[in-house]
Amino acid sequence: MPPKRGLKLVDKDASGVDTAFRSDVVNGLSQPQKAIPARWLYDDAGSQLFEDITQLPEYYPTRSETEILRDNSASFAELIGPGRAVIEFGSGSSVKTPLLLSAIAPSAYVPLDIAGDFLRAAATDLAQKFPGLPVYPVEADFMRRVELPAEIAQMPKLGFFPGSTIGNMVARTAVDLLRTMRETMGVGAQLLIGMDLIKDRDVLIAAYDDAAGVTAEFNYNLLRRVNRELDGDIPLGKFQHQARWNDDCARVEMHLVAGADMTFIVDGRQFEMIAGETIHTENSHKFNRRTSNMLLFAGGWEPQARWLDSAGRFSLILAEARPNRSAP
Ligand code: AVJ
Repeated sequence: MPPKRGLKLVDKDASGVDTAFRSDVVNGLSQPQKAIPARWLYDDAGSQLFEDITQLPEYYPTRSETEILRDNSASFAELIGPGRAVIEFGSGSSVKTPLLLSAIAPSAYVPLDIAGDFLRAAATDLAQKFPGLPVYPVEADFMRRVELPAEIAQMPKLGFFPGSTIGNMVARTAVDLLRTMRETMGVGAQLLIGMDLIKDRDVLIAAYDDAAGVTAEFNYNLLRRVNRELDGDIPLGKFQHQARWNDDCARVEMHLVAGADMTFIVDGRQFEMIAGETIHTENSHKFNRRTSNMLLFAGGWEPQARWLDSAGRFSLILAEARPNRSAP
């Protein structure tokens, strides 16, 4: 399905700058605690660096979730069953998605992503691996309600949201997204969602501050992008990557720590930082059984089943959108 013409997913100004990127960065750098939304980490270089991160010995989430998908195909088949349209929120990964699809015999596959290039690549790849499976890619921002293809209207639905991407969101945003997914897919839909678990602090920190420095590069790349796309002169060499465990919020935070007092220009505006001050660039929330259940319930999803990898590091949860009933 070709992308709809006239529907602009990325808005650029006359000089070719993404207007949402500009306002997010300028507003974020103007706050008392400087912060840039994590979604901007993923330009081409950043997406490649994230791929590299998933191969690191310290970064367990991708391996753990893949293990869960590989080892539990019989129970996915039993609890999900055949004939569902699988709607994947975010472009399909070449490894995880085929594991799910071969376990459950779906009736259609609908990858949903804002990045058209990745989306088409993922769709072509999957169509080749599963000849006979109808694939309907949808170019859309999944944070908003999405009109699903007419072809899958009558099919029962399974949302697939792996990677603990939900963990990037603060609770308010995560609940908004879960409720939006319920609206998009309707009552009766199931959702298979990955959520990383709370564990030993050192294991968590190492996963976000690896010895090879790949995660640090991933973080610095954001400053590189700001300098390149917003005509900035941020002194990259004066920043240190930091991974922090925030225990009250149960999350790993990525920060860029200023190593000296400085001023810099971004988009024609001047900003100041003092030594030790940080730019907060990402949250990665971690869960336990109760907190993940609470989040799902708040978003309108009833947990049905939960799987862990053999080391107990990561969880994959199956939930269902049941009709609203009056509660006592
Ligand atoms: C892609 C959001 C799941 O939070 O673990 C990895 C991103 N950031 N290392 C995560 C990330 C630093 C990742 N997610």
